[in-house]
Amino acid sequence: MSFFKTYIEFTLLYDGETYRVKTFEGEYDDLRELINDHVQPPNFGRCDGMGRCATCMVAQQYDNPLIKSEINLSCQLTINDDLANKVLKILPYTI
Ligand code: FES
Repeated sequence: MSFFKTYIEFTLLYDGETYRVKTFEGEYDDLRELINDHVQPPNFGRCDGMGRCATCMVAQQYDNPLIKSEINLSCQLTINDDLANKVLKILPYTI
């Protein structure tokens, strides 16, 4: 582990708003925790990251409309360089 923190920047979309996030590896246990801290969507991540509720879904957005969005549980995504410069849409909980 490096002495210096390398920042990871990415974008979150939720309810018509854009959130530019700057964080570093180890600041949060997972993406769900960061989203609850920065965006605070209602009823998001109800099982606290146990992978049981599916209320923490995010979809990666692409500029090319021909590329299908990849949907993931944010509680299963660690924050690392893989997220750098990505755009993730926080999906509403609809049930
Ligand atoms: S917080 Fe429940 S599945 Fe992710």
